[in-house]
Amino acid sequence: MMEEQQTETAATTDSSGIRKGRFSEGMDPLFAGFNASIGFDRRLFREDIQGSIAHVRMLGAQKIIPTDDADRIEEGLRSVLDDFEKGRIEFREDLEDVHINIEEALKNKIGEVSGRLHTARSRNDQIALDLRLFLKNQSVLIKKVLLGLNWALIEKARNHIDLIFPGYTHLQRAQPVRLSQHLMAYFEMFRRDWERFVDSDKRIDVMPLGSAALAGVTFPIDRKMVAESLKFAGLSRNSMDAVSDRDFVAEFIFNCSLVMTHLSRLSEELIIWSTSEFGFIELPDAYCSGSSIMPQKKNPDACELIRAKTGRVYGDLITLLTILKGLPLTYNKDLQEDKEPVFDSLDTTLASLRVMSGLVGGIKFNAAIMLEAASAPYLAATDVADAMARQGIPFREAHASVGAIIRGEPTNKRFNPPTPEEMVESRCQEGATGKRSVIRQIEEGEDFLRRSGYLNSEAD
Ligand code: ARG
Repeated sequence: MMEEQQTETAATTDSSGIRKGRFSEGMDPLFAGFNASIGFDRRLFREDIQGSIAHVRMLGAQKIIPTDDADRIEEGLRSVLDDFEKGRIEFREDLEDVHINIEEALKNKIGEVSGRLHTARSRNDQIALDLRLFLKNQSVLIKKVLLGLNWALIEKARNHIDLIFPGYTHLQRAQPVRLSQHLMAYFEMFRRDWERFVDSDKRIDVMPLGSAALAGVTFPIDRKMVAESLKFAGLSRNSMDAVSDRDFVAEFIFNCSLVMTHLSRLSEELIIWSTSEFGFIELPDAYCSGSSIMPQKKNPDACELIRAKTGRVYGDLITLLTILKGLPLTYNKDLQEDKEPVFDSLDTTLASLRVMSGLVGGIKFNAAIMLEAASAPYLAATDVADAMARQGIPFREAHASVGAIIRGEPTNKRFNPPTPEEMVESRCQEGATGKRSVIRQIEEGEDFLRRSGYLNSEAD
């Protein structure tokens, strides 16, 4: 019985042949499925082949393998790439991961000479390379989408420059502000997010090949050549670090987490503003759903989903940090578990950013209701206290007497509150909510979008 099972196991699992030398027994099918990463790392097949082409060219140029063989392998890899792109070859679970799937496809195409490709390389430095190539590209995309959201925000800010509404602290009406000032606050958050991706790009942009399993290789490789052909800015300095480092992945997910934090805060505000209690905005129908029972309902689903998906991305971050914690040097299979969190956080963040950009573009503001809410006399309390202070009364004293008036104490003081427009306009210094200041912010923001290439490129 036992023996039968083992024969069957062996027959189902050593298709790749990497167990050929060392193992006398096949893999348990249950474990084979558990061990396989092809279900998710297939997403890296382009990067994997791109890396292999750069590697094999270098092997040929350095005469580590015959140039003819290098050429045949390169040609084979290009054709395998095309086969995978067009779906002519399917990924096979029994071939464990993306690397073995590609190796096997190459072998089927060009025969045993394909075996020379893995000279001076390990899957440990190979997967580090793939992930770095992948995140380099994805960072370009996510930065562009972030700028797209900022463009949507700045357009709204420009078009509603004169709209005044209450600014809040503790979710209590505090002082009148321009809506544009509020929107430009989010612009600043997403600009910092963009900068954060720019900053962490340099830690992704490091070429790890040549580290092999952990210690480097015994062949006269040319790492610089590989780095240059793959357009990496530099080489990893320590082979043991290079195969075990996933800090750049953690950083990427953290960057996504903070983007989601900002999206979630914005979502929450839009949800509140769209309630009948507030009535400040009307969300675009295209981003809302109805209720199956209550005909009057229009629900802010997009905002709610973004708010909830933020939790997913935080989860991805904690997953990765927990994987890394306590890992001894160097490569450990634990690191295979980095893929799903990073793919998930990337996909979730990109989708959330795109949905939010579309939604922001379609928001309608109810200017009259918003101004009305900013016109409650007590919103002028600070300004009245300021006026008293200008007349020589110590501010603390002025603060107390205005407070007493608001509480309803009788007073002989004349209380002549300024209008919301006057209050907003009296705050004219840099960064404040006065018109000149907000226009300056918008112009500077447009300048930033231009400098970062957004206004010249196609929006994504
Ligand atoms: N699938 C592996 C990963 O994602 C590739 C590296 C495997 N290396 C190894 N020695 N088993 O990390």
